[in-house]
Amino acid sequence: MTCKSPFSLEGRVVLVTGAGQGVGRAIATAMAEGGARAVVVNDFFQERAEAVAAELSARGLEAMAAQADVTSPTSVDAMMAAVRARYGALHVLVNNAGNAGPGLIPAELPKFWEMDPADWQPWLATNLIGVMNCCRPAAPLLMQHDQGRIITVISDAARVGEPGYAVYSGAKAGAAGFMRAMAKEMGRYMTTVNCISLASIETPGLAERNSDPERVKKKLARYVIRRQGKPSDVAGAAVFLASEAGAWITGQTLSVNGGYAFNL
Ligand SMILES: NC(=O)c1ccc[n+]([C@@H]2O[C@H](COP(=O)([O-])OP(=O)(O)OC[C@H]3O[C@@H](n4cnc5c(N)ncnc54)[C@H](O)[C@@H]3O)[C@@H](O)[C@H]2O)c1
Repeated sequence: MTCKSPFSLEGRVVLVTGAGQGVGRAIATAMAEGGARAVVVNDFFQERAEAVAAELSARGLEAMAAQADVTSPTSVDAMMAAVRARYGALHVLVNNAGNAGPGLIPAELPKFWEMDPADWQPWLATNLIGVMNCCRPAAPLLMQHDQGRIITVISDAARVGEPGYAVYSGAKAGAAGFMRAMAKEMGRYMTTVNCISLASIETPGLAERNSDPERVKKKLARYVIRRQGKPSDVAGAAVFLASEAGAWITGQTLSVNGGYAFNL
């Protein structure tokens, strides 16, 4: 007799935004390995999305590359229509695409009051509006069955505030508030809506800002588990929330942060 794991993603169609590298790529891979019927690999860069989808397909896992810019509602709507046409359903949306700003160390970043309002836009557009752009066309698909899941990747910056990252912190905190309201709106359709909050995870995006070993050492001293996170550390948390095991968890933020920020 075979028993189905409560963490199985069997039958689920999963879309992960910004999955061409880093955390998103690890989440997309873990979802496919977790038994998802199909994984839609979104990225702004077509070649990144295609490379990850090809990697999964080569392993016999069903994957579709979907180039779209999450900051554009038209682009996201077209992607969602393509997913619907190919798979006829969507069970899990992972809002992972994010923009932590220019590859500068915090001390070099302008203070909030030194910024031009036009400079805020890329941070807000990806980290907050991008999440809304994806949730809008995804919601009607997710509510068609009782397995709908939305998982949004936020940052501990949203909860503790990072100097140099005021707009990013605000955008991620906005995404968390948005997700809590969505949890209440979608609960009656059995769709769960949660956030995963990250501290430092070794990804290509972070590497741009983490070139100074002294700074990294100082930063790690603030972690209970004294190592930097890996994308695979995040992937398991996403699979858990997406699976049947996460069916009664909603409106929550799960910290995957090596103990960087407690009780927040
Ligand atoms: N790495 C960290 O330390 C860390 C810490 C806290 C939170 N986060 C969050 O985790 C998520 C993933 O971060 P990462 O470090 O893997 O990033 P990354 O920069 O390494 O990768 C992000 C991917 O998203 C894609 N992307 C960016 N803008 C997009 C858009 N408008 N439309 C579609 N795709 C887009 C990029 O092309 C890239 O492939 C982000 O939301 C980030 O804010 C990361």
